[in-house]
Amino acid sequence: MDPDKNYKPLTKIPTHIAVIMDGNGRWARARGLPRLAGHRAGTENLRRVIAACVEFGIQYLTIYAFSTENWERPQEEVSGLMLIVEDVIDRELEELNRQGVQLRHIGHLERLKPKLQKKVLKAIEKTKDNNRLILNIAFNYGGRDEITCAIRSMIADGIKAEEVTAELVGKYLFTRDIPDPDIIIRTSGEMRISNFMIWQAAYAEWYVTPTFWPDFDKDELYKAVVDYAHRERRYGRVLEPSECVPDADETSPRC
Ligand code: FPP
Repeated sequence: MDPDKNYKPLTKIPTHIAVIMDGNGRWARARGLPRLAGHRAGTENLRRVIAACVEFGIQYLTIYAFSTENWERPQEEVSGLMLIVEDVIDRELEELNRQGVQLRHIGHLERLKPKLQKKVLKAIEKTKDNNRLILNIAFNYGGRDEITCAIRSMIADGIKAEEVTAELVGKYLFTRDIPDPDIIIRTSGEMRISNFMIWQAAYAEWYVTPTFWPDFDKDELYKAVVDYAHRERRYGRVLEPSECVPDADETSPRC
């Protein structure tokens, strides 16, 4: 990747990009390295992708960093991932704050060590007034768990069956104050949702690349956003001629 490369201005920018950062383990295996080396490389890459999102004017970036199912991984990998997160907060918080990144978390903090919980909460508090990019970290997050929690809270709040609407459910999710993702990127070629934002993904555009997460650089992000710009989002409707999106060659509208 050439850092000084000039990118053609983007015609349509997604407000919210969500990423399933997959392939760290395979990236490491291909180099004869332990899996944690892949996670460390993936974490380094995150810094590049965050900077690129700031540069491209993306407002929300959600990253799937640890799922409710990832606890089933070998103990060494789980504790290694926890240490990586602690280390990232220690090393990167000042810089993220300087870049105007606001940190948020979706999922449950309770199962994390108290020291890590405190660091996460401190990072959220420190960056809460930033608005250049909202970096939403899904950590100990699962979509089914999120919906289950929402149902429990609605019942606890005494919501009546006839009062339940899709809009109201949205207000009980962890993502209640952020828009649904416009595009979900999954690296490493897998075509699965893996319990990620299963409610919010209803009308997201999918972008799957064979590239492993540690190699998903600014060029790759740019390609994904350009691809998004040529998607027609119909939300189940038929588009009016004025809403049609030009083809990739930007000459002929597709509908
Ligand atoms: C998936 O690759 C990756 C993960 C489960 C962890 C992603 C976490 C990071 C990049 C750490 C950074 C997080 C923060 C919040 C700083 P995989 O291990 O499933 O890869 P594989 O499918 O090739 O085995």
